[in-house]
Amino acid sequence: MIYLDYAAATPLRKEVIRVMKKVLEKQFGNPSSAHSQGRAAKALIEAARSRIAQHVNCKPTEVVFTGGGTEANNMAILGFAEANIDKGNHIITTPVEHESVLEPIKKLQKAGFSITFLPVDSKGAVSEKDLLKAIKKDTVLISIIHGNNEIGTVQDIKKLAESAKKHTNAAFHTDSCQTLGYNKLDFLDLNVDAITINSGKISGPKGVGALILKEKSAITPFITGGGQERRLRSGTENLAGILGFAEAVSLIDYKKTNQIESLRGRLQKNIIKAFPQAGINGDQKNRLPNNLNVTFPGIDAESLLIRLDMEGIAASAGSACGSGSIEPSHVLLAIGLSQKDAKSTIRFSLGDQTTKEEIDTVFKTLNKILKKMYNLRP
Ligand SMILES: Cc1ncc(COP(=O)(O)O)c(C=O)c1O
Repeated sequence: MIYLDYAAATPLRKEVIRVMKKVLEKQFGNPSSAHSQGRAAKALIEAARSRIAQHVNCKPTEVVFTGGGTEANNMAILGFAEANIDKGNHIITTPVEHESVLEPIKKLQKAGFSITFLPVDSKGAVSEKDLLKAIKKDTVLISIIHGNNEIGTVQDIKKLAESAKKHTNAAFHTDSCQTLGYNKLDFLDLNVDAITINSGKISGPKGVGALILKEKSAITPFITGGGQERRLRSGTENLAGILGFAEAVSLIDYKKTNQIESLRGRLQKNIIKAFPQAGINGDQKNRLPNNLNVTFPGIDAESLLIRLDMEGIAASAGSACGSGSIEPSHVLLAIGLSQKDAKSTIRFSLGDQTTKEEIDTVFKTLNKILKKMYNLRP
């Protein structure tokens, strides 16, 4: 099987499995217990926290472990909104966010918050000018996705956050689930209040993530109980998951980025040469190096994916980890694709284990299938 769906899920590194297995077998103590088993578990969590903090250049106390990217996004959106309700009820976001940002925002809208969706251009990028224009006296939160999970466009979060901060005290959150591992993340340098990161996208276990949260942020926890994670996220910690996450973070190798990008370029070039009618979505310059989102006009993406799957190739359509819905992607519609073209679009996402041979086999197979679907001679 050739796996080109890294944006949805990544294969676990063997080092990660080793660390997790050891913990699962030996460390069952509750990190909140005062006995030595509990204290040992607690020490492991704090070591994992420090490793992640070092990687993203924040303080260890600024790492709040969560049950994945969805939870960290919900925590940021609902938490900042609730904590700042006395200051205002206006939120700024974009129409190209992941559902785990859009859904809590819709919930807040129903509860009376006013929402501004910034316009995006045909590449899926927002402009600094539109952001500044949208800021109001009662803006309490700005949430803008970093690297887009569908089309790969990477927003200039540093520039956006820096200029927003000159005009508002609103919290600035960015969803970096797809960015970590491909573009170096530096919390201090980005100048934001919160970043969502996700273990499942970097060859760590799924269902673990973190909100990197600036010290002294005004945020209300939405999972309450035993007061773990500095009272910000209650619940007995997922020790094996957290340790696997930290191991995956420390194994990130940014040198691999060039290799991935060049393989993506090879596939893209071959596709465009063979099918000049194909459209490449997303920003061609500021794009995640592993993302290739292509529209094949007139082709039903679902059938194309099934045929690819039958030939042992895994790619995807629509959003990374949606519920298998066949609705046209909101991201593709937001960048101006028609419903029809949105349903003719597939995403290849490469990873550190993708090889040149695999890319060439994918192209050969795709070429054969598409020629058949377009009713052309192979
Ligand atoms: C940009 C982005 N944000 C959030 C998520 C949600 O992550 P999870 O499903 O692991 O909670 C994903 C998953 O694909 C994503 O790509």
